[in-house]
Amino acid sequence: MHIAVVNGPNLNLLGVREPARYGSATLADIEAAVRERARALGVEIGWLQSNHEGALVDAIQALRGRADGALINAAAYTHTSIAVRDAVLAAAVPFVEVHLTNIWGREEERRKSLLADLAVGVVAGFGGQSYLLGLEGLVGHLRRTKASDKSVEV
Ligand code: DQA
Repeated sequence: MHIAVVNGPNLNLLGVREPARYGSATLADIEAAVRERARALGVEIGWLQSNHEGALVDAIQALRGRADGALINAAAYTHTSIAVRDAVLAAAVPFVEVHLTNIWGREEERRKSLLADLAVGVVAGFGGQSYLLGLEGLVGHLRRTKASDKSVEV
């Protein structure tokens, strides 16, 4: 099972960026923790981060038919990008939306997600652990739905 993890703008600065809000873990620390958990779960991880909306659109489009699922932290584009939303719709890959912070406890403009209604689920507010919780939830969901696909085939 292949899971893609897609990270949006400014997440490359985790660790130095507003540490009181986002914590001291770097994106590389979070990636290492996700890869370790993925190994334990027996799934493969693809990892990417971009600060550019078009690059994120390209990367999400490319998941179609190639990834079984995705974890997506589109960062600020979560709240603004219809292009990222359209790419997610086009890719048709089940995904969990993750955020380090609880976006519903923050400024008004961050309380809206253009992706959440398309997601299998959303995990927000647990720092880097949001990614691990999201991965566990996504893999469980995919295993359940794949198992029920099989039972339909029989
Ligand atoms: C974020 C929340 C967004 O509002 C913000 O723009 C980010 C990070 C989070 O993970 O908490 O860059 O997605």
